[in-house]
Amino acid sequence: MVLPALRFPSVRPRRLRASRAIRGLVAESELTPSSLVLPIFVDERLSSPRPSASMKGVTVYPPSSPELVKAVGEALDLGVKGFLLFGIPASKDYTGSRAYARDGPTQVALRTLRRELGDEPVLFADLCICGFTDHGHCGLPRRTPRGSTVIDNDETLKVYQKIAVSQAEAGADFVAPSGMMDGQVRAIREALDSAGYTDVGIMAYSVKYASSFYGPFREVMDSAPRFGDRRSYQMDPRNAREALKEALMDVEEGADIIMVKPALAYLDVIRLVKEALPFVPLAAYNVSGEYMMVKLAAEHGLADERTLMLEVLYAIRRAGADIIITYHAVEAARALREGPPF
Ligand code: PBG
Repeated sequence: MVLPALRFPSVRPRRLRASRAIRGLVAESELTPSSLVLPIFVDERLSSPRPSASMKGVTVYPPSSPELVKAVGEALDLGVKGFLLFGIPASKDYTGSRAYARDGPTQVALRTLRRELGDEPVLFADLCICGFTDHGHCGLPRRTPRGSTVIDNDETLKVYQKIAVSQAEAGADFVAPSGMMDGQVRAIREALDSAGYTDVGIMAYSVKYASSFYGPFREVMDSAPRFGDRRSYQMDPRNAREALKEALMDVEEGADIIMVKPALAYLDVIRLVKEALPFVPLAAYNVSGEYMMVKLAAEHGLADERTLMLEVLYAIRRAGADIIITYHAVEAARALREGPPF
């Protein structure tokens, strides 16, 4: 390649940065509230909303409360249309039965939002058992004859199928399996189809890493594993090419939307997956630890929160994400009304 500066000695890149308006004209990435998804926590033990202790600015709602409806309504008015629901149960057991109960926290919240707000919100239901089980794993632990404990992949799929059908029945537009069991998308697709929910989609957590960035979330959900860790099912942070295998398998199994998670520490993976499968909508989950790094940096006076938040979100977008799942969705939508601060 010939160096452009040698052939075009009069090029001065700074001309394109001279004013905010010029920078806006030549900006390569766009971010609008319509591509943001806000995670929402609903706890069936609560009778009134409670601020989360581990995640600044995040509120946990009772599943059928007017405050939940109001919060979602306000986000809708700001242009945020997607919501990812996480239920927190009053009791936990081995299979996580509150995750597929008709009156479980996620199901009640889905019905409430659907009844009050109609079709406008796009409702995603997180589909996992870690917050609902007494062992805190995303799959069912089993003792092997040799005395070790493993997570039983195929037994877990049967539980996921029940959850999917109950979430579809309660009004989810998309179920979002996050447990990283092999074959989970196919199993869920089959269950939805045979129950008649052919129109309910799947947003698959396809490329989910065993990450330390999930700490604040596990605190809110009380979903940390009670023994061991998640490394036998979530991906190794050292791997990027393996992401292509996971993403491709999920597309073949019937995923409508695929996901990379976390987002900020895995921008290379977002780019890789987007380039390999450009025709599949790609979501990226800007997870709790990434969110809290921004919050804490701002609190300590190390950065302006609004600018730092938008720099992070634009970076995820620039890398290739179509949809960004972020606890900052409402704040970002508000900030974007004044235009990007760059
Ligand atoms: C559980 C699940 C996790 C997150 C979403 N669904 C955490 C985990 O694997 O322990 C993380 C979200 C976040 O940190 O914001 N299957």
